[in-house]
Amino acid sequence: MHILVTGGAGYIGTHTCIALIEAGHSVVVLDNFSNSHPEALKRVEQICQRPVPFYEGDAGDADTLKYIFSQHHIDGVIHFAGSKAVGESVEKPMLYYRNNVTASQTLIETMNDAGVHTLVFSSSATVYGDPQSVPIFEDFPLGPTNPYGRSKLMVEQIIQDFCQASGAFSGIILRYFNPVGAHDSGKIGEDPNGIPNNLMPFIAQVAVGKRETLSVFGSDYPTADGTGVRDYIHVCDLADGHVKALETLHGQPGSHIFNLGTGNGISVLEMVNAYASASEQPVPYQLVARRPGDVACCYANSDHAKKVLGWEAKHDLHSMVSSSWHWQSGNPDGYQSGK
Ligand code: WQD
Repeated sequence: MHILVTGGAGYIGTHTCIALIEAGHSVVVLDNFSNSHPEALKRVEQICQRPVPFYEGDAGDADTLKYIFSQHHIDGVIHFAGSKAVGESVEKPMLYYRNNVTASQTLIETMNDAGVHTLVFSSSATVYGDPQSVPIFEDFPLGPTNPYGRSKLMVEQIIQDFCQASGAFSGIILRYFNPVGAHDSGKIGEDPNGIPNNLMPFIAQVAVGKRETLSVFGSDYPTADGTGVRDYIHVCDLADGHVKALETLHGQPGSHIFNLGTGNGISVLEMVNAYASASEQPVPYQLVARRPGDVACCYANSDHAKKVLGWEAKHDLHSMVSSSWHWQSGNPDGYQSGK
């Protein structure tokens, strides 16, 4: 299949482009490089040993999308492009609703007008909010607690309503838990702008000496060691989930929702210790107050994806932290500095 990947120069986007190409598909990338780097696409071309056509632009720009659809026969779209920082979404909600909701609506309408009827949407476990229990199933109550999570849920609802009305559109909603790790080449990886919001890139930057110490947000949660527990999933497993979703559900009208997680909960301190062990670098940390909005524990049940898509996560914690270190140690300043 020929797939348009919006946000394809980003962390999950680059890994998914590689997985698609290695599965025999072809990709076209659309990215505005607001939270990614053109060098990342060059690395994808090096890894895949083939050119990756790309367009610089916004995923919500109808004219750009129409042009791409006129130049390429596209079978489906994977939509990664969007804003994704929880804290920033609280400060700038209208930016998040414009970038995530309005843009997605424009994409869906433009796709449909061009006869492209398969969409894979990058959603998030954040739509569950503070879960009633764990593991989390797809039919759990949805209760996002910030504009980022609410924007993701709004797009899910737009997709479901459009699929219902269209009768010919396949909307595949993938709810990611916590993506981490990197491609085993060490050529691509997570390279957030500025101070990392997320745990893994922050730990990686401490290990490589770019940052002094990690602040552990909360040590009084009702968990085994008092720190937050999450379902960390290797980004290559996540990428594989997108390929399987497209190959299974392309041309199957309706909306389909899947959790993509490992089903295992890992605490902050377990992650710190695993990283220090794999990198053989100290990861100094300090226990500080909880971060507002954080939940104690969140991990997935992904049986639905296993049953319908034949997908399950295969990489273990050591693979997650060692692949992250391979990327970070080879690219201390991300794509600005890599070899
Ligand atoms: C994980 C754990 C923190 C940083 C968010 C979004 C989710 C997805 C992933 C986009 C928590 C603790 C973190 C730090 C810490 N984003 N932590 N010190 O909050 O589970 O999920 O990012 O798709 O949608 O909601 O991920 O990595 O920020 O936090 O102690 O410097 O690490 O308290 O327990 P989170 P995270």
